[in-house]
Amino acid sequence: MGCFDADDMRQKLRETRDSILAYKPPIPEIAIIMGTGLGGLAEEIKAEVVIPYDKLPNFPVSTVPGHHGKLLFGTLEDKVVVALQGRFHIYEGYEPWEIAFPIRIIHSLGAKILITSNAAGGLNPIYRPSELMVINDHINLTGFNPLRGPNLEELGPRFPDMTEPYDRELIELAESLALQNGIRLHRGVFVGVAGPSMETAAETRFLRLIGADAVGMSTIMEVITAVHLGMRVLGISVITNVNLPDNYKPAPLELVIANAEKAAPDLQRLIKLVLRNLQE
Ligand code: HPA
Repeated sequence: MGCFDADDMRQKLRETRDSILAYKPPIPEIAIIMGTGLGGLAEEIKAEVVIPYDKLPNFPVSTVPGHHGKLLFGTLEDKVVVALQGRFHIYEGYEPWEIAFPIRIIHSLGAKILITSNAAGGLNPIYRPSELMVINDHINLTGFNPLRGPNLEELGPRFPDMTEPYDRELIELAESLALQNGIRLHRGVFVGVAGPSMETAAETRFLRLIGADAVGMSTIMEVITAVHLGMRVLGISVITNVNLPDNYKPAPLELVIANAEKAAPDLQRLIKLVLRNLQE
């Protein structure tokens, strides 16, 4: 169901935006998708308006345990932010346009920058579990694209440029802050797959050969949507496991979660440093 009616989409976006505006939220500069490792930031945001996703018309509702679905509007490091607590994955059965929808909404509310994190399997053999990687570029191997269907010209172009989906200045800011503050941060290429099955050894070898440093099941739909809208994007992967095809070991969910938790304090510290040092 990639095809929808453009006017129907406009109407849905208007309805959802209007119902959020009725809560009178502050106008956010920055949107943060609380992916893996960033959930803890929710407690640090001075929230002024909190809206559960299920109170909003047309908004998808999370199915993954531990991903609470809410929008938090407030301040973090003196920046007005909107945090998306709870995200949507293709493997859950959402349509790509449904995953795109919240990004279009937060952009329509004013957000110009998107910060996102994810859990990813390391493919670069120098990576270690619980290290961080700033996403330099991506490869979309999900087989999906959130922009399939009629283009809403007022949102962005039919064929959005992808020469620099991840903002250079934000990457360099994150790198210099990581260096100054003793946080190990790699820079690499993220490949997105649909999941939910993990990769075979042969697939892992292939992903490394085509130039990827980390693989995960989220982020790509949101980033393509944000780039279409002209937003500046910063993406950080938490390397929860390292996949070496010639010495391939399972990466069960418990391991992924435990290693993500170890990395979370550094990731949260880094995102707060980026916010504090962001110049408009
Ligand atoms: N593969 C895909 N997605 C993931 C992985 C992985 O190894 N680890 C965390 N998310």
